[in-house]
Amino acid sequence: MCGIVGYIGKRQAYPILIKGLKRLEYRGYDSAGIALITEQSGLQVYKTKGKVADLEKHAEGKDISGTIGIAHTRWATHGEPTSTNAHPHVSSTGRLAIIHNGIIENYAVLKDQLKEKGIEFHSDTDTEVLVQLIDYIRTKKELDLLTSVRIALHQVIGAYAMAIIDKDNPDQIIAARQSSPLVVGIGDGEFFLGSDASPIIEYTNKVVYLDDQDIAVIDRNKENVEFVNIHNETIEHEIKKINLNLSQIEKGGYPHFMLKEIFEQPESLKDCMRGRVNVDLNNVVLSAVIDYRKELINARRFIIVACGTSWHAGLIGKQLLENFCQIPVEVEYASEFRYSNPVINNQDVVIAISQSGETADTLAAVELAKKKGAFIFGICNAIGSSIPRATQTGCYIHVGPEIGVASTKAFTGQVTVLTMLSLAIAKARGTIDIREYEELVKGLNDIPEKQKELLNSCNEKIHEISKIFTYARNFLYLGRGYNYPVALEGALKLKEISYIHAEGYPAAEMKHGPIALIDEEMPVVIIATKNALYDKLMSNIQEIKARKGRVIALVSEDDEKVKALADEYIELPKTLECLEPLLATIPLQLLAYYIAICKGKNVDQPRNLAKSVTVE
Ligand code: M6R
Repeated sequence: MCGIVGYIGKRQAYPILIKGLKRLEYRGYDSAGIALITEQSGLQVYKTKGKVADLEKHAEGKDISGTIGIAHTRWATHGEPTSTNAHPHVSSTGRLAIIHNGIIENYAVLKDQLKEKGIEFHSDTDTEVLVQLIDYIRTKKELDLLTSVRIALHQVIGAYAMAIIDKDNPDQIIAARQSSPLVVGIGDGEFFLGSDASPIIEYTNKVVYLDDQDIAVIDRNKENVEFVNIHNETIEHEIKKINLNLSQIEKGGYPHFMLKEIFEQPESLKDCMRGRVNVDLNNVVLSAVIDYRKELINARRFIIVACGTSWHAGLIGKQLLENFCQIPVEVEYASEFRYSNPVINNQDVVIAISQSGETADTLAAVELAKKKGAFIFGICNAIGSSIPRATQTGCYIHVGPEIGVASTKAFTGQVTVLTMLSLAIAKARGTIDIREYEELVKGLNDIPEKQKELLNSCNEKIHEISKIFTYARNFLYLGRGYNYPVALEGALKLKEISYIHAEGYPAAEMKHGPIALIDEEMPVVIIATKNALYDKLMSNIQEIKARKGRVIALVSEDDEKVKALADEYIELPKTLECLEPLLATIPLQLLAYYIAICKGKNVDQPRNLAKSVTVE
């Protein structure tokens, strides 16, 4: 939620900041702004409602010179998306400009106090309160900017990644973090700031990830960035080398990131399994299961915490872990878990699943479980993000940056890691038959090839099917067993990017309510592969057809019966039942994508959403 970028060095800041904002636009895209300190005109702030492209238009013909600047792309929390509420915000003295990602929870109290002291406010945002507070402390007590920032941050409750510049000191940016991500890039005589590393990697691969309560003092005349905490104690940070390349964060010939990421799945799952699944040795090796064998194999219970798509992956994880490891599993929405009073002890293992590794609710759930003594295992994609740093161990899914707001390859990556984890723990516990284990290792290893085959065979067909169903205002998605969470995921994808109302249900639940919705207008997507519950699914299809519903079925390739019954069908390559989600999800991602495209929607930046939900 909100992307922040900063630059200080020898080059012109504007092009670097604009490019950086474009790379971070997935984090928020309702308004954008930039602040530069230019030689001729001093502090210049340009901001507008809309996207980064609108900001560029807005800044055309204006003074955009200067080698220091900060910029922001917003996902509104406090105050409508207007140019007044867009960041950067400038203090009343006109000296300080700030950008901020997060929420200042006690902003109303602070605002009242500052108003009483005569400070005038111009926006409805919590961020303006922060810059006014810092400037009030600075002027009142005649303090330097760093000290003023530190004192102000002591008074603030909430989350922030922020950067501030002072028009009278064009050599310095001060940045700070609490609960929202912030990365400093270290170049040769120049420094960069970003909400993640994507705006930085074009210029340097040396980065420092800030921890909570860290403040970075970035001075163009110094070789290194100084880090202190809010108590003014010096912090030593290791400079990390990141392994990202530009092609990973660009569209590579695809019209949208979402389509690129759907098509990347065969390769991304190979990356996810690389060095972990060894089909020659019939083995799955996860270093976390070797290093923390005792904690994992003796777990009394697993509790999976996650949100959205990651929560759907968790539902599949529950079935895998219970089936193979014989350990009970609970799957909780992180947002509910963090405010419940869960009974947890040190024999529980909490598995936190998050693509971004920054989701505020999931992070808070991790902190709560940690306090209660649970062992914490993270399944994340974004390297160096907050959740992996807060967990004792875990597995990165290694599917590469996911930029489309609708999660696709991260979901199949999460399910793949959960499968590998279940197999590794089950083998260590002796709860899985060795022949079944070997079959699963082979089955998993074959998935990328099957995904490739599926993408080739179904892409065009789904494009055609989607044209038929753009009329629909509602969709029902049904599945059973391992495919029930796939139905939930298919429905979420459709509503997120096409704004069509969609519900996912376990197929057998249909007759307990949703069947009332079925008429000749209602498309029902049903995952009806030939597995243990095939006959039951056949009956569900008959029930839908009897009420004139329109069935789009995902079927096993040799299943003529369902093909004959369905209005439309997509064939899935054969695989083991528990691996079906890794295939069945793909046509549902494509269906959502093409329906949204047919309806003219912006699939990579759907309305009201942001990729990384760093606020509650
Ligand atoms: O980064 P996370 O996996 O923690 O994100 C969780 C959800 O916000 C995310 O999955 C969201 O539901 C996606 N937009 C789904 O496509």
